[in-house]
Amino acid sequence: MAKPLNIAVAGLGTVGTGVVRLLAENAKVLERRCGRKLDVVAVSARDKTKDRGIDLAGVRWFDDPVNMAKAPGIDVVVELIGGSGGVARSVVETAIKAGRAVVTANKALLAHHGTELAMAAERKGVPLAFEAAVAGGIPIIKALREGLAGNRVRRVYGILNGTCNYILTEMRRTGRDFEEVLEEAQDKGYAEADPSFDVDGIDAAHKLAVLSAVAFGARVNFKAVHVEGIRHVTAMDIAFADELGFRIKLLGLAARTDAGIEQRVHPCLVRLGTPIAHVEGVFNAVVAEGDFVGQAVFQGRGAGQGPTASAVASDLVDIARGVRVPTFSVPAKALDRARPVPMTRHTGAYYIRLMVTDRPGVIADVTATFRDQNISLESMLQRARDPKEAVPVVLVTHETRESSMRRALAKIAALDTVQEPPRVIRIEEP
Ligand code: NDP
Ligand code: HSE
Repeated sequence: MAKPLNIAVAGLGTVGTGVVRLLAENAKVLERRCGRKLDVVAVSARDKTKDRGIDLAGVRWFDDPVNMAKAPGIDVVVELIGGSGGVARSVVETAIKAGRAVVTANKALLAHHGTELAMAAERKGVPLAFEAAVAGGIPIIKALREGLAGNRVRRVYGILNGTCNYILTEMRRTGRDFEEVLEEAQDKGYAEADPSFDVDGIDAAHKLAVLSAVAFGARVNFKAVHVEGIRHVTAMDIAFADELGFRIKLLGLAARTDAGIEQRVHPCLVRLGTPIAHVEGVFNAVVAEGDFVGQAVFQGRGAGQGPTASAVASDLVDIARGVRVPTFSVPAKALDRARPVPMTRHTGAYYIRLMVTDRPGVIADVTATFRDQNISLESMLQRARDPKEAVPVVLVTHETRESSMRRALAKIAALDTVQEPPRVIRIEEP
Protein backbone atom coordinates (compact mmCIF):
# COMPACT_ATOMS: atom_id res chain seq x y z
CA MET A 1 0.00 0.00 0.00
CA ALA A 2 1.31 3.46 -0.94
CA LYS A 3 1.87 5.94 1.87
CA PRO A 4 -1.20 7.92 3.00
CA LEU A 5 -2.02 11.28 1.42
CA ASN A 6 -1.58 13.78 4.25
CA ILE A 7 -4.22 16.48 4.04
CA ALA A 8 -4.39 19.87 5.78
CA VAL A 9 -7.75 21.64 5.83
CA ALA A 10 -7.79 25.44 6.17
CA GLY A 11 -11.30 26.56 7.17
CA LEU A 12 -13.81 24.45 9.09
CA GLY A 13 -17.11 26.12 8.21
CA THR A 14 -19.92 24.67 6.10
CA VAL A 15 -17.59 23.13 3.52
CA GLY A 16 -14.55 22.36 5.70
CA THR A 17 -16.54 20.34 8.25
CA GLY A 18 -18.30 18.58 5.37
CA VAL A 19 -14.95 17.55 3.89
CA VAL A 20 -13.63 16.24 7.22
CA ARG A 21 -16.87 14.30 7.75
CA LEU A 22 -16.87 12.83 4.22
CA LEU A 23 -13.23 11.73 4.48
CA ALA A 24 -14.01 10.01 7.81
CA GLU A 25 -17.30 8.37 6.78
CA ASN A 26 -16.09 7.19 3.36
CA ALA A 27 -12.51 6.41 4.44
CA LYS A 28 -12.63 2.75 3.44
CA VAL A 29 -14.13 3.22 -0.02
CA LEU A 30 -11.73 6.08 -0.75
CA GLU A 31 -8.78 3.97 0.34
CA ARG A 32 -9.85 1.21 -2.09
CA ARG A 33 -10.28 3.68 -4.93
CA CYS A 34 -6.96 5.43 -4.40
CA GLY A 35 -4.84 2.50 -3.22
CA ARG A 36 -3.86 4.63 -0.22
CA LYS A 37 -5.43 6.35 2.77
CA LEU A 38 -6.63 9.94 2.68
CA ASP A 39 -5.72 11.27 6.13
CA VAL A 40 -6.61 14.65 7.56
CA VAL A 41 -3.51 15.44 9.61
CA ALA A 42 -3.89 19.17 10.23
CA VAL A 43 -6.67 21.78 10.38
CA SER A 44 -6.98 25.50 10.92
CA ALA A 45 -9.87 27.84 11.69
CA ARG A 46 -10.30 30.99 13.75
CA ASP A 47 -11.92 29.55 16.86
CA LYS A 48 -10.31 26.45 18.34
CA THR A 49 -13.01 26.08 21.00
CA LYS A 50 -16.01 25.89 18.66
CA ASP A 51 -17.84 22.55 18.64
CA ARG A 52 -18.05 21.67 14.95
CA GLY A 53 -19.58 18.20 15.40
CA ILE A 54 -16.53 16.48 13.89
CA ASP A 55 -13.86 14.33 15.46
CA LEU A 56 -10.51 16.11 15.38
CA ALA A 57 -8.72 13.80 17.84
CA GLY A 58 -5.09 13.34 16.82
CA VAL A 59 -5.34 16.10 14.19
CA ARG A 60 -2.84 18.94 14.55
CA TRP A 61 -4.45 22.37 15.10
CA PHE A 62 -2.95 25.55 13.61
CA ASP A 63 -4.11 29.03 14.61
CA ASP A 64 -2.37 30.35 11.51
CA PRO A 65 -3.37 28.59 8.26
CA VAL A 66 -0.40 30.10 6.43
CA ASN A 67 1.99 28.36 8.83
CA MET A 68 0.04 25.16 8.30
CA ALA A 69 0.39 25.51 4.50
CA LYS A 70 4.18 25.21 4.77
CA ALA A 71 4.42 22.88 7.76
CA PRO A 72 6.34 19.63 7.19
CA GLY A 73 4.53 16.33 6.59
CA ILE A 74 1.68 17.74 4.47
CA ASP A 75 0.97 16.69 0.87
CA VAL A 76 -2.20 18.66 0.08
CA VAL A 77 -3.58 21.92 1.43
CA VAL A 78 -7.35 22.32 1.10
CA GLU A 79 -8.29 26.01 1.23
CA LEU A 80 -11.88 26.48 2.45
CA ILE A 81 -11.69 29.91 4.06
CA GLY A 82 -12.94 32.03 1.18
CA GLY A 83 -12.31 35.54 -0.12
CA SER A 84 -10.49 36.80 -3.19
CA GLY A 85 -7.38 37.91 -1.31
CA GLY A 86 -6.18 38.07 2.28
CA VAL A 87 -5.49 34.90 4.17
CA ALA A 88 -7.00 32.55 1.56
CA ARG A 89 -4.65 33.86 -1.12
CA SER A 90 -1.65 33.67 1.25
CA VAL A 91 -2.52 30.08 2.15
CA VAL A 92 -2.71 29.03 -1.52
CA GLU A 93 0.45 30.92 -2.57
CA THR A 94 2.40 29.61 0.41
CA ALA A 95 1.30 26.03 -0.24
CA ILE A 96 2.32 26.21 -3.91
CA LYS A 97 5.67 27.76 -3.00
CA ALA A 98 6.24 24.94 -0.51
CA GLY A 99 5.52 22.36 -3.25
CA ARG A 100 2.15 21.23 -1.85
CA ALA A 101 -0.82 20.29 -4.00
CA VAL A 102 -3.74 22.69 -3.50
CA VAL A 103 -7.49 22.07 -3.55
CA THR A 104 -9.82 25.03 -3.19
CA ALA A 105 -13.54 25.80 -3.44
CA ASN A 106 -12.78 29.51 -3.66
CA LYS A 107 -14.14 30.88 -6.94
CA ALA A 108 -13.56 34.49 -5.82
CA LEU A 109 -9.83 33.82 -5.48
CA LEU A 110 -9.67 31.99 -8.82
CA ALA A 111 -11.71 34.66 -10.64
CA HIS A 112 -9.29 37.34 -9.51
CA HIS A 113 -5.96 35.48 -9.45
CA GLY A 114 -6.60 32.18 -11.25
CA THR A 115 -4.18 32.69 -14.13
CA GLU A 116 -1.21 33.66 -11.93
CA LEU A 117 -1.94 30.87 -9.45
CA ALA A 118 -2.15 28.33 -12.28
CA MET A 119 1.19 29.57 -13.64
CA ALA A 120 2.80 29.37 -10.20
CA ALA A 121 1.43 25.85 -9.61
CA GLU A 122 2.49 24.57 -13.03
CA ARG A 123 5.99 26.10 -12.63
CA LYS A 124 6.30 24.27 -9.34
CA GLY A 125 4.77 21.07 -10.79
CA VAL A 126 1.95 20.85 -8.24
CA PRO A 127 -1.79 20.45 -8.94
CA LEU A 128 -4.20 23.31 -8.29
CA ALA A 129 -7.67 21.74 -8.26
CA PHE A 130 -11.04 23.48 -7.88
CA GLU A 131 -13.97 21.23 -8.80
CA ALA A 132 -16.00 22.64 -5.89
CA ALA A 133 -15.57 26.23 -7.06
CA VAL A 134 -18.18 25.96 -9.84
CA ALA A 135 -21.71 24.54 -9.55
CA GLY A 136 -21.19 22.77 -6.18
CA GLY A 137 -21.59 19.02 -6.52
CA ILE A 138 -21.79 18.93 -10.34
CA PRO A 139 -18.45 17.66 -11.73
CA ILE A 140 -18.46 20.30 -14.48
CA ILE A 141 -14.76 21.20 -14.37
CA LYS A 142 -13.75 17.59 -14.92
CA ALA A 143 -16.46 17.20 -17.59
CA LEU A 144 -15.18 20.15 -19.59
CA ARG A 145 -11.47 19.57 -19.04
CA GLU A 146 -11.49 15.81 -19.50
CA GLY A 147 -14.83 14.34 -20.65
CA LEU A 148 -15.32 16.92 -23.41
CA ALA A 149 -11.62 17.42 -24.20
CA GLY A 150 -12.15 16.25 -27.78
CA ASN A 151 -14.47 19.16 -28.59
CA ARG A 152 -14.22 22.82 -29.41
CA VAL A 153 -16.66 24.24 -26.88
CA ARG A 154 -18.71 27.05 -28.42
CA ARG A 155 -20.93 27.96 -25.53
CA VAL A 156 -21.37 27.12 -21.89
CA TYR A 157 -24.17 28.47 -19.75
CA GLY A 158 -26.36 27.67 -16.80
CA ILE A 159 -27.67 28.30 -13.35
CA LEU A 160 -24.51 28.85 -11.33
CA ASN A 161 -25.78 30.21 -8.03
CA GLY A 162 -27.80 27.99 -5.71
CA THR A 163 -28.84 30.81 -3.39
CA CYS A 164 -30.41 32.86 -6.22
CA ASN A 165 -32.13 29.85 -7.71
CA TYR A 166 -33.48 28.96 -4.28
CA ILE A 167 -34.75 32.52 -3.76
CA LEU A 168 -36.40 32.77 -7.20
CA THR A 169 -38.01 29.35 -6.79
CA GLU A 170 -39.36 30.04 -3.31
CA MET A 171 -40.62 33.52 -4.25
CA ARG A 172 -42.59 31.96 -7.11
CA ARG A 173 -43.79 28.92 -5.17
CA THR A 174 -44.79 30.56 -1.92
CA GLY A 175 -45.13 34.27 -2.72
CA ARG A 176 -42.73 35.05 0.16
CA ASP A 177 -40.54 38.08 -0.12
CA PHE A 178 -36.91 38.23 -1.10
CA GLU A 179 -35.40 38.99 2.35
CA GLU A 180 -37.21 36.15 4.11
CA VAL A 181 -36.12 33.55 1.56
CA LEU A 182 -32.55 34.86 1.55
CA GLU A 183 -32.36 34.32 5.33
CA GLU A 184 -33.51 30.74 4.83
CA ALA A 185 -30.79 30.16 2.19
CA GLN A 186 -28.21 31.54 4.66
CA ASP A 187 -29.47 29.18 7.40
CA LYS A 188 -29.06 26.25 5.04
CA GLY A 189 -25.39 27.18 4.44
CA TYR A 190 -25.88 28.07 0.74
CA ALA A 191 -25.00 31.75 0.82
CA GLU A 192 -21.58 33.38 0.71
CA ALA A 193 -20.17 35.06 3.84
CA ASP A 194 -21.43 38.30 2.25
CA PRO A 195 -24.75 37.28 0.62
CA SER A 196 -24.74 40.34 -1.64
CA PHE A 197 -22.16 38.34 -3.63
CA ASP A 198 -24.97 35.87 -4.37
CA VAL A 199 -27.89 38.20 -4.99
CA ASP A 200 -25.92 40.78 -6.97
CA GLY A 201 -24.62 38.13 -9.37
CA ILE A 202 -20.96 38.42 -8.33
CA ASP A 203 -20.62 34.80 -7.19
CA ALA A 204 -22.11 33.55 -10.47
CA ALA A 205 -19.74 35.88 -12.34
CA HIS A 206 -16.76 34.47 -10.42
CA LYS A 207 -17.86 30.97 -11.45
CA LEU A 208 -18.51 31.97 -15.04
CA ALA A 209 -15.02 33.48 -15.35
CA VAL A 210 -13.52 30.18 -14.13
CA LEU A 211 -15.82 28.11 -16.34
CA SER A 212 -14.92 30.17 -19.43
CA ALA A 213 -11.23 29.69 -18.78
CA VAL A 214 -11.68 25.92 -18.61
CA ALA A 215 -14.10 25.74 -21.55
CA PHE A 216 -12.15 27.96 -23.93
CA GLY A 217 -8.56 27.54 -22.68
CA ALA A 218 -8.43 31.29 -22.04
CA ARG A 219 -7.01 33.41 -19.24
CA VAL A 220 -9.48 34.02 -16.43
CA ASN A 221 -11.02 37.43 -17.13
CA PHE A 222 -13.49 38.33 -14.40
CA LYS A 223 -13.41 42.04 -15.30
CA ALA A 224 -14.90 41.20 -18.71
CA VAL A 225 -18.06 39.64 -17.24
CA HIS A 226 -21.23 41.75 -17.55
CA VAL A 227 -22.96 41.32 -14.15
CA GLU A 228 -26.51 41.97 -12.97
CA GLY A 229 -28.16 40.33 -9.95
CA ILE A 230 -31.72 39.48 -8.92
CA ARG A 231 -32.57 42.33 -6.53
CA HIS A 232 -34.80 44.06 -9.07
CA VAL A 233 -36.79 40.88 -9.88
CA THR A 234 -40.18 41.32 -8.20
CA ALA A 235 -43.08 38.98 -7.46
CA MET A 236 -44.97 40.88 -10.18
CA ASP A 237 -42.33 40.01 -12.80
CA ILE A 238 -42.30 36.38 -11.69
CA ALA A 239 -46.11 36.25 -12.11
CA PHE A 240 -46.03 37.94 -15.53
CA ALA A 241 -43.26 35.59 -16.68
CA ASP A 242 -45.43 32.65 -15.62
CA GLU A 243 -48.37 34.02 -17.57
CA LEU A 244 -46.19 34.42 -20.67
CA GLY A 245 -44.88 30.83 -20.38
CA PHE A 246 -41.45 31.54 -18.87
CA ARG A 247 -39.47 31.10 -15.65
CA ILE A 248 -37.03 33.72 -14.38
CA LYS A 249 -33.53 32.33 -13.74
CA LEU A 250 -30.20 33.96 -12.98
CA LEU A 251 -27.97 32.58 -15.73
CA GLY A 252 -24.27 32.79 -16.46
CA LEU A 253 -23.54 32.55 -20.18
CA ALA A 254 -20.20 32.42 -22.00
CA ALA A 255 -19.73 32.05 -25.73
CA ARG A 256 -16.71 32.05 -27.99
CA THR A 257 -17.28 33.87 -31.28
CA ASP A 258 -15.02 35.28 -33.99
CA ALA A 259 -15.21 38.60 -32.13
CA GLY A 260 -13.85 37.10 -28.86
CA ILE A 261 -15.42 35.78 -25.68
CA GLU A 262 -18.78 37.04 -24.43
CA GLN A 263 -19.41 36.53 -20.70
CA ARG A 264 -22.59 37.69 -19.01
CA VAL A 265 -24.54 37.04 -15.81
CA HIS A 266 -28.07 38.40 -15.49
CA PRO A 267 -31.65 37.31 -14.82
CA CYS A 268 -33.23 35.72 -17.88
CA LEU A 269 -36.66 34.60 -18.97
CA VAL A 270 -36.32 30.99 -20.08
CA ARG A 271 -39.17 29.23 -21.81
CA LEU A 272 -41.06 26.54 -19.87
CA GLY A 273 -40.25 23.18 -21.40
CA THR A 274 -36.51 23.87 -21.75
CA PRO A 275 -34.40 21.82 -19.30
CA ILE A 276 -33.09 24.88 -17.47
CA ALA A 277 -36.55 26.30 -16.75
CA HIS A 278 -37.31 23.29 -14.54
CA VAL A 279 -34.16 23.39 -12.42
CA GLU A 280 -35.49 24.53 -9.06
CA GLY A 281 -34.32 25.32 -5.54
CA VAL A 282 -30.64 24.97 -4.72
CA PHE A 283 -30.04 22.94 -7.89
CA ASN A 284 -27.65 24.24 -10.54
CA ALA A 285 -27.48 23.19 -14.17
CA VAL A 286 -24.77 23.69 -16.76
CA VAL A 287 -25.19 23.22 -20.50
CA ALA A 288 -22.04 22.80 -22.59
CA GLU A 289 -22.15 22.87 -26.38
CA GLY A 290 -19.29 21.17 -28.22
CA ASP A 291 -18.74 20.82 -31.95
CA PHE A 292 -18.82 17.00 -31.89
CA VAL A 293 -20.81 16.15 -28.76
CA GLY A 294 -23.60 18.67 -29.39
CA GLN A 295 -25.37 19.69 -26.21
CA ALA A 296 -24.52 18.13 -22.85
CA VAL A 297 -26.60 19.02 -19.79
CA PHE A 298 -25.37 18.60 -16.22
CA GLN A 299 -27.54 19.06 -13.16
CA GLY A 300 -27.12 18.72 -9.41
CA ARG A 301 -27.04 20.55 -6.10
CA GLY A 302 -25.07 23.76 -6.50
CA ALA A 303 -24.38 24.62 -2.87
CA GLY A 304 -24.42 23.23 0.65
CA GLN A 305 -22.21 21.02 2.73
CA GLY A 306 -22.64 17.57 1.17
CA PRO A 307 -22.43 18.46 -2.55
CA THR A 308 -19.47 20.78 -2.05
CA ALA A 309 -17.59 18.25 0.08
CA SER A 310 -18.24 15.70 -2.67
CA ALA A 311 -16.53 17.94 -5.23
CA VAL A 312 -13.55 18.62 -2.95
CA ALA A 313 -13.19 14.88 -2.35
CA SER A 314 -13.05 14.19 -6.10
CA ASP A 315 -10.04 16.52 -6.39
CA LEU A 316 -8.36 14.76 -3.45
CA VAL A 317 -8.94 11.40 -5.12
CA ASP A 318 -7.29 12.65 -8.34
CA ILE A 319 -4.29 13.87 -6.37
CA ALA A 320 -4.02 10.63 -4.41
CA ARG A 321 -4.11 8.67 -7.69
CA GLY A 322 -1.48 10.89 -9.27
CA VAL A 323 -3.79 12.26 -12.01
CA ARG A 324 -2.21 15.38 -13.55
CA VAL A 325 -4.03 17.74 -15.91
CA PRO A 326 -3.39 21.38 -16.87
CA THR A 327 -5.25 23.69 -14.48
CA PHE A 328 -7.47 25.40 -17.08
CA SER A 329 -7.45 22.65 -19.78
CA VAL A 330 -4.29 23.90 -21.53
CA PRO A 331 -0.91 24.70 -19.93
CA ALA A 332 -1.21 28.04 -18.11
CA LYS A 333 1.44 29.80 -20.19
CA ALA A 334 -0.44 28.85 -23.39
CA LEU A 335 -3.82 30.26 -22.24
CA ASP A 336 -5.42 32.62 -24.79
CA ARG A 337 -5.76 36.32 -24.16
CA ALA A 338 -9.17 36.40 -25.85
CA ARG A 339 -10.81 39.74 -26.61
CA PRO A 340 -13.93 40.41 -24.48
CA VAL A 341 -17.15 41.06 -26.43
CA PRO A 342 -19.00 44.05 -24.88
CA MET A 343 -22.63 43.71 -23.80
CA THR A 344 -23.74 46.44 -26.23
CA ARG A 345 -23.04 43.93 -29.04
CA HIS A 346 -25.48 41.43 -27.56
CA THR A 347 -28.62 40.63 -29.52
CA GLY A 348 -31.72 38.97 -28.12
CA ALA A 349 -35.36 39.41 -27.18
CA TYR A 350 -36.44 41.43 -24.13
CA TYR A 351 -39.18 41.53 -21.49
CA ILE A 352 -39.94 45.08 -20.38
CA ARG A 353 -42.29 46.08 -17.58
CA LEU A 354 -43.36 49.69 -17.29
CA MET A 355 -45.44 51.32 -14.57
CA VAL A 356 -47.44 53.92 -16.44
CA THR A 357 -50.20 56.46 -15.90
CA ASP A 358 -53.34 54.88 -17.31
CA ARG A 359 -54.40 57.47 -19.89
CA PRO A 360 -54.87 57.53 -23.68
CA GLY A 361 -51.73 57.84 -25.83
CA VAL A 362 -49.27 56.26 -23.37
CA ILE A 363 -48.83 53.04 -25.34
CA ALA A 364 -48.61 55.01 -28.59
CA ASP A 365 -45.64 57.01 -27.19
CA VAL A 366 -43.90 53.85 -25.99
CA THR A 367 -44.38 51.92 -29.22
CA ALA A 368 -43.30 54.95 -31.29
CA THR A 369 -40.00 54.95 -29.39
CA PHE A 370 -39.48 51.28 -30.17
CA ARG A 371 -40.36 51.92 -33.83
CA ASP A 372 -37.75 54.74 -33.96
CA GLN A 373 -35.09 52.27 -32.78
CA ASN A 374 -36.25 49.61 -35.22
CA ILE A 375 -37.40 47.33 -32.38
CA SER A 376 -40.33 45.09 -33.18
CA LEU A 377 -42.79 43.95 -30.52
CA GLU A 378 -43.96 40.41 -30.15
CA SER A 379 -46.66 40.94 -27.50
CA MET A 380 -48.06 43.29 -24.91
CA LEU A 381 -49.98 42.76 -21.67
CA GLN A 382 -51.93 45.24 -19.57
CA ARG A 383 -53.86 43.63 -16.77
CA ALA A 384 -55.10 46.43 -14.52
CA ARG A 385 -57.10 49.61 -15.23
CA ASP A 386 -56.89 52.45 -12.76
CA PRO A 387 -56.81 56.07 -13.84
CA LYS A 388 -55.60 57.13 -10.37
CA GLU A 389 -52.61 54.76 -9.99
CA ALA A 390 -49.70 53.53 -12.05
CA VAL A 391 -50.52 50.29 -13.85
CA PRO A 392 -48.11 47.67 -15.16
CA VAL A 393 -47.65 47.24 -18.91
CA VAL A 394 -45.50 44.36 -20.13
CA LEU A 395 -43.92 44.30 -23.56
CA VAL A 396 -42.04 41.44 -25.18
CA THR A 397 -39.81 42.30 -28.13
CA HIS A 398 -38.45 40.29 -31.01
CA GLU A 399 -34.67 39.91 -31.27
CA THR A 400 -32.89 43.26 -31.23
CA ARG A 401 -29.52 44.79 -30.40
CA GLU A 402 -28.79 45.70 -26.79
CA SER A 403 -27.52 49.14 -27.89
CA SER A 404 -30.88 49.93 -29.60
CA MET A 405 -32.76 48.68 -26.55
CA ARG A 406 -30.72 50.91 -24.24
CA ARG A 407 -31.43 53.99 -26.41
CA ALA A 408 -35.16 53.21 -26.50
CA LEU A 409 -35.34 52.64 -22.74
CA ALA A 410 -33.60 55.94 -21.97
CA LYS A 411 -36.29 57.75 -24.01
CA ILE A 412 -39.14 55.73 -22.48
CA ALA A 413 -37.89 56.34 -18.94
CA ALA A 414 -38.01 60.10 -19.65
CA LEU A 415 -41.73 60.07 -20.64
CA ASP A 416 -43.79 61.83 -17.97
CA THR A 417 -46.34 59.00 -18.03
CA VAL A 418 -43.69 56.40 -17.07
CA GLN A 419 -43.59 56.48 -13.29
CA GLU A 420 -40.76 54.07 -12.42
CA PRO A 421 -37.53 53.07 -14.17
CA PRO A 422 -38.40 50.36 -16.75
CA ARG A 423 -37.70 46.81 -15.54
CA VAL A 424 -35.90 44.84 -18.21
CA ILE A 425 -35.17 41.11 -18.29
CA ARG A 426 -33.47 39.52 -21.28
CA ILE A 427 -35.12 36.50 -22.86
CA GLU A 428 -32.77 33.61 -23.48
CA GLU A 429 -33.75 31.07 -26.12
CA PRO A 430 -31.25 28.20 -25.76
P1 NDP B 1 -17.77 29.45 6.15
O1 NDP B 1 -17.90 30.91 6.42
O2 NDP B 1 -18.83 28.54 6.63
O3 NDP B 1 -16.37 28.92 6.72
C1 NDP B 1 -15.19 29.65 6.65
C2 NDP B 1 -14.17 29.02 7.57
O4 NDP B 1 -12.94 29.72 7.45
C3 NDP B 1 -14.55 29.04 9.04
O5 NDP B 1 -14.28 27.79 9.64
C4 NDP B 1 -13.62 30.10 9.66
O6 NDP B 1 -13.21 29.82 10.98
C5 NDP B 1 -12.41 29.94 8.75
N1 NDP B 1 -11.59 31.16 8.72
C6 NDP B 1 -11.96 32.43 8.41
N2 NDP B 1 -10.90 33.25 8.51
C7 NDP B 1 -9.87 32.50 8.92
C8 NDP B 1 -8.51 32.77 9.24
N3 NDP B 1 -8.02 34.02 9.15
N4 NDP B 1 -7.73 31.75 9.64
C9 NDP B 1 -8.21 30.49 9.73
N5 NDP B 1 -9.49 30.17 9.43
C10 NDP B 1 -10.30 31.17 9.05
O7 NDP B 1 -17.59 29.32 4.56
P2 NDP B 1 -18.03 28.12 3.63
O8 NDP B 1 -17.57 26.85 4.21
O9 NDP B 1 -19.44 28.28 3.22
O10 NDP B 1 -17.16 28.45 2.30
C11 NDP B 1 -15.78 28.18 2.23
C12 NDP B 1 -15.34 28.37 0.78
O11 NDP B 1 -16.06 27.47 -0.06
C13 NDP B 1 -15.59 29.75 0.19
O12 NDP B 1 -14.59 30.06 -0.73
C14 NDP B 1 -16.93 29.58 -0.54
O13 NDP B 1 -17.09 30.50 -1.60
C15 NDP B 1 -16.74 28.18 -1.09
N6 NDP B 1 -17.95 27.46 -1.42
C16 NDP B 1 -18.98 27.38 -0.53
C17 NDP B 1 -20.11 26.65 -0.82
C18 NDP B 1 -21.25 26.53 0.12
O14 NDP B 1 -22.28 25.95 -0.26
N7 NDP B 1 -21.16 27.04 1.33
C19 NDP B 1 -20.22 25.94 -2.09
C20 NDP B 1 -19.07 26.07 -2.97
C21 NDP B 1 -17.99 26.81 -2.63
P3 NDP B 1 -14.27 29.79 12.23
O15 NDP B 1 -15.21 28.65 11.95
O16 NDP B 1 -13.44 29.54 13.43
O17 NDP B 1 -14.96 31.12 12.21
N1 HSE C 1 -23.14 30.80 -2.44
C1 HSE C 1 -22.93 29.85 -3.48
C2 HSE C 1 -24.27 29.51 -4.14
C3 HSE C 1 -22.30 28.62 -2.92
O1 HSE C 1 -25.30 29.82 -3.55
O2 HSE C 1 -24.28 28.96 -5.23
C4 HSE C 1 -21.91 27.61 -3.95
O3 HSE C 1 -20.83 28.05 -4.69
